[in-house]
Amino acid sequence: MSIYNQDKLTQDVVGAFARCSDERLRVLMTSLVKHVHAFAREVDLKPDEWLAGLKFLTATGQISTDKRPEFILLSDTLGLSMMVVALAQARASGAVQGAMAATEATVEGPFFWPGAPEVPLGADIAEGVPGEPTLYMGRVTDVDGKPLAGALLDVWSGDGDGKYDVQLSAEPTMKARGRLRTDAEGRYWFWSIRPTYYPVPDDGPVGDMLRATNRNINRPGHIHMMVSAEGHVPLTTHIFVAGSPFIDEDVVFGKRDSLVVDFEAHPPGRAVDGREMKQPYHSASFDFRLAPVPASA
Ligand code: BEZ
Ligand code: FE
Repeated sequence: MSIYNQDKLTQDVVGAFARCSDERLRVLMTSLVKHVHAFAREVDLKPDEWLAGLKFLTATGQISTDKRPEFILLSDTLGLSMMVVALAQARASGAVQGAMAATEATVEGPFFWPGAPEVPLGADIAEGVPGEPTLYMGRVTDVDGKPLAGALLDVWSGDGDGKYDVQLSAEPTMKARGRLRTDAEGRYWFWSIRPTYYPVPDDGPVGDMLRATNRNINRPGHIHMMVSAEGHVPLTTHIFVAGSPFIDEDVVFGKRDSLVVDFEAHPPGRAVDGREMKQPYHSASFDFRLAPVPASA
């Protein structure tokens, strides 16, 4: 096909969507077609490569279940999930004038489990879970630093061996998960463990892709938080463990410098919340800032 006809092919396909009455769907589909055609032309895509790509996508669909969302993992490892997170946060904070930025958001990942137990401030959400005990503390405020009383923190992490509860058995029970609310001054504190790095599920097509391209398969140590308060944009983010292996090569590109926290080591003794610790422990301090819901939302 001549160059002219290649251009005409793209225009014809774009034109085929012209009658789409859903304006947004038409924008998405025509832009997708233009980019996919441009990709094929840029790399001079060969028929066997095209077929290998389709077989890869087919295998990604075949292994996918509710509990094994391989397409989301593909999106994560191509940085698309993080791009969507960054775009959403930029859109939400566009309405905030002259205030400090909200805490950076990052990927949710596949291990969120709604309905974690509600626990009081100071609770240990990881009793019996392997790992070094850690006291997490800080405040939830708005972007002007005003404390948000009664803000909800939904917290989850893997254990000190890098395993999430849902990976430990076919009939898992919740571990290292909890929901708690800030006090009148917007403060929170709770105990869990210091999470370690772990590999993303790598026994499927995405793992094959990572190995074929010599990529790292690990995420650095982190604990997940969903933070919400009335009148504010909910935030899904992590606290990352400073110095964790893979801190500078997160396989899903979720690490943000502003979310990396020093986990301070302490000898046995009385912790700042009054808990008597018979073993060494860590503490991690982090404040969350939530953006206001834009007026038009
Ligand atoms: C996680 O942090 O739980 C996660 C995120 C993306 C892919 C796999 C795991
Ligand atoms: Fe995680």
